Amino acid sequence: MEYENKHILAPMVRVGTLPFRLLAAEYGADITYGEEIIDHKILKCERRVNDYLGTTDFVERGTGDVVFRTCHEERNRLVFQMGSSDAVRALAAAELVSKDVAAIDINMGCPRSFSISGGMGAALLSKPELVHDILTTLRRNLNNAVTCKIRLLNSSQDTVELSRRIEMSGVSALAVHGRRVKDRPRDPAKWSEIADVVSALSIPVIANGDVFDYEHFEQIKIATGATAVMVARGALWNASIFRAEGKLSWEDVKREYLRKCILWDNGVKSTKQTLKEMIMHYSCLELAEGKVVTKSQTIADLANIYGEEGYYQFVTKNR
Ligand code: FNR
Repeated sequence: MEYENKHILAPMVRVGTLPFRLLAAEYGADITYGEEIIDHKILKCERRVNDYLGTTDFVERGTGDVVFRTCHEERNRLVFQMGSSDAVRALAAAELVSKDVAAIDINMGCPRSFSISGGMGAALLSKPELVHDILTTLRRNLNNAVTCKIRLLNSSQDTVELSRRIEMSGVSALAVHGRRVKDRPRDPAKWSEIADVVSALSIPVIANGDVFDYEHFEQIKIATGATAVMVARGALWNASIFRAEGKLSWEDVKREYLRKCILWDNGVKSTKQTLKEMIMHYSCLELAEGKVVTKSQTIADLANIYGEEGYYQFVTKNR
């Protein structure tokens, strides 16, 4: 996996499933992250080849839920992001998916209480020994690239110090979200503090925060010196942000997303959540579209809402 000069789809819970990743890649994303999956969860799964869809599925024993779905086409650009607080468990989880993905990333920035109370996500930012243990264990035992994604610490000096320790563990790249744990998404990302990390390291740094248009890819690279750029909300709101030729209309992107969800039999929860996030940005959930999407219970319902029932029937009949 090469990280130089790359445009990257960020990990996003409920959003970064197979259809959204393929959509972003179709529009130009070079590397696509899956949503964060907790090590305990993937360890409850078995790997199954799904001949009907042409996918590899990680299916939870007992419930039959598809926790992670991928396909061969994305193998060389796919990053599996994991939540973990333990090196042995992280390795066991990574080994399960390792031949289906290009890289394994550890989430060290998630501020949600669920992550922090489990010692995962941003809780790792204050545990450099554990960070080192997890990353070196993965790196020594896997053939995949190993990376992690952090947030800024309270001072730039602290962020740089942790980043140096992370670099010493032998990771292939480090993603830096330019906000502190307590910052809100609306607070501006601190590109200058990402720049401090870039100057201190020799491995590729992936800059993340406040990229909402194609031109911002270049602007954040210039401001930070980072070689690669990662985008989350800008892609969620319009995945065609990765197109050098300019964004496509939101309506067209939304429809293409839904068609991919139909094609790849995406879970209705994740499909609804992603559509709702898109609608909330451009409109409001209280208006007609938002209301019917919120009420929908199946992918077939969503296909009807967007006039894709013919496509839905064609795909499901031929599956
Ligand atoms: C996120 N983010 C996130 N980060 C992460 O490391 N793992 C994850 O699973 C998620 N999930 C997630 C879901 C949604 C809906 C959003 C909006 C964000 C954080 C994300 O990857 C990114 O770091 C921040 O959103 C900042 O980037 P932008 O949005 O300014 O481009």
